[in-house]
Amino acid sequence: MSEAKRLAGEKAMDWVEDDMVVGVGTGSTVAHFIDALAGMKDRIAGAVSSSEQSTQRLRGHGIEVLDLNACGPIPLYVDGADECDPGRRLIKGGGAALTREKIIAEAARTFVCIIDPSKEVEVLGRFPLPIEVVPMARSLVGREIVALTGGQPVWRQGTVTDNGNWVLDVHGLSISDPVALEQLLNQVPGVVSVGLFARRPADVVIVGGTPPRIR
Ligand code: 5RP
Repeated sequence: MSEAKRLAGEKAMDWVEDDMVVGVGTGSTVAHFIDALAGMKDRIAGAVSSSEQSTQRLRGHGIEVLDLNACGPIPLYVDGADECDPGRRLIKGGGAALTREKIIAEAARTFVCIIDPSKEVEVLGRFPLPIEVVPMARSLVGREIVALTGGQPVWRQGTVTDNGNWVLDVHGLSISDPVALEQLLNQVPGVVSVGLFARRPADVVIVGGTPPRIR
């Protein structure tokens, strides 16, 4: 799948224009995008990064990393996903970067999602849904998730997010109404963010292949 990821990451360069601030996601597919972006580093205004991991890779290429607060709305966000449905709604957070990813997606005019074909699904939920939680609320949120969804939350032990929080992965969901579930789970005290990108889905999906497929 790494070849498909590379092809998707490189194709996303078609959306990058001179003098842009580019929002950059997290993960192995995005790593290919960052490597391709390096070839244009002197022509963009800089990048807004969704994780320490991506920040390191960007800086390693000499790409300036900017504070979102200093940028206002940004024209473009490029990120991967763990699952993508036919409505371009996503599950994200396999790399535990979901909160910052969601913030940048919200700030972006265009969200380009780059995936390999294995990420395409008819209904979201085969991939366990990541939820970032404030540590003291882990058990509380877990119980509420069981009551609200019937899913089985599993604590991703050993993982601490860049924001100092923990992650629950919710197994056993079949998400027929992603917008409603996102809104429901967002309301549970202690939930920092939900790895459902449905209220703000991707605008464009690039599926890596020869040639890449645009959805
Ligand atoms: C990180 C993410 C990633 O976009 C997602 O996990 C996909 O990763 P990869 O490109 O390595 O398959 O949401 O939080």
